[in-house]
Amino acid sequence: MENKLLEINHLYTSFRIRDDYYAAVDDVSLTVNKNEVLAIVGESGSGKSALAFSIMRLHNRAKTEGEILFKGENVIGMSDSRLNQVRGKDMAMIFQDPLTALNPLMTVGEQIGEALFLHNKKLDKQARRTKVIDLLNQVGIPRPEYVVDQYPHELSGGMRQRVMIAIAISNDPELLIADEPTTALDVTIQAQILDLIRQLKQKMNAGIILITHDLGVVAEMADRVAVMYAGEIVELADVETLFENPQHPYTRSLLNSVPNVNQQQDKLHVIQGIVPSLALLPRKGCRFKDRIPWLDESTHEADPVLREIKPGHFVRCTCYQHFHFPKEEEVDQSDLS
Ligand SMILES: Nc1ncnc2c1ncn2[C@@H]1O[C@H](COP(=O)(O)OP(=O)(O)OP(=O)(O)O)[C@@H](O)[C@H]1O
Ligand code: SF4
Ligand SMILES: [Mg+2]
Repeated sequence: MENKLLEINHLYTSFRIRDDYYAAVDDVSLTVNKNEVLAIVGESGSGKSALAFSIMRLHNRAKTEGEILFKGENVIGMSDSRLNQVRGKDMAMIFQDPLTALNPLMTVGEQIGEALFLHNKKLDKQARRTKVIDLLNQVGIPRPEYVVDQYPHELSGGMRQRVMIAIAISNDPELLIADEPTTALDVTIQAQILDLIRQLKQKMNAGIILITHDLGVVAEMADRVAVMYAGEIVELADVETLFENPQHPYTRSLLNSVPNVNQQQDKLHVIQGIVPSLALLPRKGCRFKDRIPWLDESTHEADPVLREIKPGHFVRCTCYQHFHFPKEEEVDQSDLS
């Protein structure tokens, strides 16, 4: 219990589209412990960023219901002043897109300095500059004394990403949410940034939510993994279990999509199709079953729920008992792309 940093219970985050609300995060429950990396994977549109924004309470036009307990305190019910104390200090986020997250009109130094000053008013200008340069050093930015006075557009994508990380770690957060922190960066920079996140976990005993499409990153970084599909968690397990014994068909398909040099890759074993858009998601029953039309209707549950099939291993529905990838004669039906 002591170790629990974040506990999310039955979270719903819904967006208004035309006359109705649609849940982009639909009854999600999970926990993050100190000194733990929880990876969240799932294809585009599955609700990963919507979940991250809800935890930080950054959505301004969404309806959020449920409980997000950060060290026992419900983020959803926090007053704005309390939220401003917690956000950027105790919990911080690295955003998916550094260009939109950084202010184009402020220098790197001013932006990191502002993040520091917000939570420590005693820091004078000179102390802030020293601390900013130290942070730039920590995130591996060369010539920090020079970069401190540059604007975001003067920096490369990798450097901007590091600036965002510097802002996120400036107040030693206990919970860090990293939303696709390495997408669009080249492999060397990716490795360095992941290393930084790993250090943060070790040095600061932080809990980390790492959102990524990259299963290689998951294998390398995560302690536990939640797989999301269309707003729901379809599988949750520790990283070894998930890679060695995946159960939900969506997880199995995701894992099959990673080229494996040791195995003959069979294209049929990757399920075709995409996550339907929010307004078109089925509101009743399983959101995934349309993507596996070769399975008989009678095998699907009317209202699939997440069940713990082994300690710590949760799978939505009973898929794992009867799922198979399409046989040759079922292939035509499965060609949804
Ligand atoms: N502000 C919004 N208003 C309406 N719909 C939204 C809004 N933000 C997200 N959505 C919808 O919610 C769903 C989940 O989006 P989200 O950005 O969380 O996906 P994601 O898993 O982060 O995808 P990606 O991997 O592409 O970043 C999508 O259908 C998206 O179109
Ligand atoms: S078996 Fe259950 S979870 Fe799997 S596709 Fe069918 S209804 Fe969905
Ligand atoms: Mg996203």
